[in-house]
Amino acid sequence: MITDFNMSNQYRAKIHELIPGGAHTYSKGDDQFPQLSPAAIAYGKGAHVWDIDGNKFLDCSMGLTSVSLGHAYEPVLERVREELAKGVNFQRPAYIEMEMAEAFLALIPCHQMIKFAKNGSTVTTAAIKLARAYTGRRMVAFPSDHPFYSYDDWFIGQTACSKGVPPENAVLSVTYKSDDLVSLTELFEKYPGQIAGVISEPEKNFGLSENYLQQAIDLAHKHGALYIVDEMITGFKTDFPGSIKKYNVQPDLATWGKGIANGFSFCALTGKREIMDLGGIKNEGQEKVFLTSTTHGGETHAIAAGLATIKEFQEKNVIKHNHRIGDYFLTRVNAEISASGLNDQVQMAACNWMPVFIFKDASGVPSMGLRTLFLQEMIARGVLFQGSFVPCFSHTTDDIDFFAEAFRASLERYKEGLAVGYEKLLTGSPVKPVFRKYI
Ligand SMILES: Cc1ncc(COP(=O)(O)O)c(C=O)c1O
Repeated sequence: MITDFNMSNQYRAKIHELIPGGAHTYSKGDDQFPQLSPAAIAYGKGAHVWDIDGNKFLDCSMGLTSVSLGHAYEPVLERVREELAKGVNFQRPAYIEMEMAEAFLALIPCHQMIKFAKNGSTVTTAAIKLARAYTGRRMVAFPSDHPFYSYDDWFIGQTACSKGVPPENAVLSVTYKSDDLVSLTELFEKYPGQIAGVISEPEKNFGLSENYLQQAIDLAHKHGALYIVDEMITGFKTDFPGSIKKYNVQPDLATWGKGIANGFSFCALTGKREIMDLGGIKNEGQEKVFLTSTTHGGETHAIAAGLATIKEFQEKNVIKHNHRIGDYFLTRVNAEISASGLNDQVQMAACNWMPVFIFKDASGVPSMGLRTLFLQEMIARGVLFQGSFVPCFSHTTDDIDFFAEAFRASLERYKEGLAVGYEKLLTGSPVKPVFRKYI
């Protein structure tokens, strides 16, 4: 059992004085983990990470799903080292930008142009801007029940954390219920001729109804809006390159990030030429759209990491491996849940590319307290678990057996928590939602 978090506790005590939020994404923050957990990671290798106290953990979320092959994965590092030696940023584009543009677009036959960036928010926001520029409309739509699309105003203004966003910006964003054509239709009818584009993840872990995606794209087009598929999470996970291939659809624009460069900072916006080219400089006389313009968007070694990642996915059929690991995970973990008799309290999405969990109390209501207790127990048993599992190329069936054993023991503790109250077994406070009005 892992009990030594001494260095982590010192880190926790100091970091919030230096970095607001103590991290660079809120989902890595202290309020997202139990108190008995690592506060910072020292290094990772393959499917494991070591914290600053020297504790070793099986990694489950793999850098917020960005590490699709494994930490410090040698074939990617080798390509990155080669590129580093040549310099990383120049006064003119680096040659590797064309190599990547061709390689990435070859994966997406329905798209002819690509723009790179370092963060997902940059490319989702760029897609919104293009939709507005192309249609001449102001409003954008996204599903209200999806967690995150950008830290920019158009998205954050619609969340509980809208402080700092002018309300007149926020009203330009409208929401509908995901995977629900009636809800999307009603939205278009409520704002006729006003919605520039719909942005949505193509699917979530709980599945998608057949033909939904094509119908949603058709609906948007019928109303004169663009449809943007955000493959930030699904890309290089549901299929290769992502769900647009799995469902054989041709959205106007797509956004990519996590997973496409094995954790390196490389993101992309892809799309149809007539839309993307609005950001170009060759059509003289046409009004210029200032699409994205980033000093680091063409950083060479991150692009090299992306090229090496694509090569690994192509040559080693990484998707097949990751889905096989996911399937084994579902079988092993479902068996543990059934054996425990906690089927109504601990529920798992049967999704082989990223199983996620819901933790409920005895009356079937989701419970942050019980969830945190479960995380605490998994972490004590060497599994850095935050409520989901992201299969990567470095995970083995032995890792899943290790996970399942920790899961079995944690279910027993969960039962005790249900019986005596989680407060008696949990050290510290329950985790809190990222999007909340008050700290
Ligand atoms: C679906 C989706 N879109 C966009 C983003 C933003 O990506 P980034 O954190 O790289 O800005 C995220 C990040 O969690 C995401 O999950």
